[in-house]
Amino acid sequence: TESTRELLLSRIRDIPDYPKPGVLFKDITPLLADPAAFAALTDTLAELCVRHGATKVVGLEARGFILAAPVAVRAGLGFVPVRKAGKLPGATLSQAYELEYGTAEIEIHAGDLSADDRIMVIDDVLATGGTAEASLELIRRAGAEVAGVAVLMELGFLDGRARLEQGLADAPLEALIRV
Ligand code: PRP
Ligand code: MG
Repeated sequence: TESTRELLLSRIRDIPDYPKPGVLFKDITPLLADPAAFAALTDTLAELCVRHGATKVVGLEARGFILAAPVAVRAGLGFVPVRKAGKLPGATLSQAYELEYGTAEIEIHAGDLSADDRIMVIDDVLATGGTAEASLELIRRAGAEVAGVAVLMELGFLDGRARLEQGLADAPLEALIRV
């Protein structure tokens, strides 16, 4: 609802020139520290998981974990972490992706997903879309279906939405707040 959106927006703090000059950082820690706002966020994302028929929730390290884990519990779904390279002990699938400067790599335990699964990917922010796009590739390679991507905030001017088009196919990108 609009009042939920207003509550969430009011708890996101703008930090100018972080982590470097010219960047306006969106800090979600005030939202996490407010139990009513965090619960409203969790409930809203859990409802999206149910609506889109998700069977599991994938959270993207690190800030995505904070949101996705309570959402998975709330929705009655399993939680599967996508981690930065080198952190998962089992048989992993890895995916490299482009950063503003250089490349990064993320991994998933392939055995955590099956062909019967429909996955909702959850993260705090969609910026260039590189991280989310790579996670969709991991899900596809693991043989599961994508139920959608849900983020608290979409930075519209970076057009991550366009970058996700192919990986999402017809699945939705849900952004609770667009800035
Ligand atoms: C941030 C944010 C998203 C990602 C969005 O994570 O939490 O995961 O960047 O950017 P993109 O759409 O351009 O890929 P970051 O890798 O900075 O680290 P963290 O979550 O571990 O703090
Ligand atoms: Mg992140």
